Amino acid sequence: MAKRIFSGAQPTGNLHLGNYLGALRNWVALQHEYESFFCVVDLHAITIPQDPAGLAAKTHEVARLYLAAGIDPAVSTIFVQSDVKEHAELAWVLNCVVRIGELERMTQFKDKAKKQRENVSAGLLTYPALMAADILLYQTDLVPVGQDQKQHLELTRDLAERFNRDFGETFRVPNAFIPKVGAKIQALDDPSKKMSKSDENENGRISLMDDADTIRRKFKRAVTDSGADVRFDAARPAVTNLLSIYQLLTGQTPEQIEAHFAGKGYAQLKGDLADAAIAFLQPYQERVRSISDEELSRILREGADKARAIAAETLRQVKERMGIVGA
Ligand code: AMP
Ligand code: TRP
Repeated sequence: MAKRIFSGAQPTGNLHLGNYLGALRNWVALQHEYESFFCVVDLHAITIPQDPAGLAAKTHEVARLYLAAGIDPAVSTIFVQSDVKEHAELAWVLNCVVRIGELERMTQFKDKAKKQRENVSAGLLTYPALMAADILLYQTDLVPVGQDQKQHLELTRDLAERFNRDFGETFRVPNAFIPKVGAKIQALDDPSKKMSKSDENENGRISLMDDADTIRRKFKRAVTDSGADVRFDAARPAVTNLLSIYQLLTGQTPEQIEAHFAGKGYAQLKGDLADAAIAFLQPYQERVRSISDEELSRILREGADKARAIAAETLRQVKERMGIVGA
């Protein structure tokens, strides 16, 4: 069987450069080597409160962002999670395999629960069981994600192994693919935090749909470190973060970049970085806008049909092994 990839993003907030550089970009690069499934995970989004009209619009927008990034529906399967009911059904089964203690140890849960303070939904706790279901339904080999998803991937592997041990070999045990550069793009306003869709400070992230003026303004306001020379240096996380973004956008090596900025200061770095981001994002945004509603719904419908056929077969095996046979 061809090796498979599965990955997804939540249709909450605006996708940003961190999402692109940490995840989407690698999906595009890997799609020709693997049979690929890219999902808009709307059922994950409702683990925290969402405005219904906003969620519906974002679900389609994220699918457009996948296509505009270069995910080719002729070779990859793009679909919306809620269109394939098997995700919710396998998630229930895995909720009965995962231990509460494992879920409570997830750092993403702890962080998000802290932000919610009260009214933390049970879904926020069991989120990783749904994510494991997404991945395991497709007998996935590789899951390209940013660094923040590493712990969820490890839990997915544990659940696959536990199920296989208890009920017989059923799931392929997936590996995470986390890029060496870009796996953790930090916030522009605070290099100790990751660039995040949900942070209330818009200036911390470059949204994939930001216009040129906004991009320039946000880079100009980006926090820098003490010192003046522009080079990669772990002791200077803010400048190193900006340089990593520059590296990924331009495809230059760190040596070329340091030579380019030798004798120049932070203002030059920020200006050149804005130029590079605009040069990338303007045509990207044109591609987003060029996808018609009809084309999008056809792609998502066909994607869901393809995904469903595979997911249904895995779920059938799971139920049979567990003795869930119905009337
Ligand atoms: P999410 O926005 O949580 O739905 O994430 C979608 C994908 O983007 C996941 O693979 C994340 O790991 C990745 N991602 C999110 N934020 C960042 C970031 N700041 N840097 C790198 N990758 C990220
Ligand atoms: N939890 C992931 C995130 O927030 C999104 C996601 C849901 C996902 N299901 C997945 C990523 C399956 C990879 C594979 O980024």
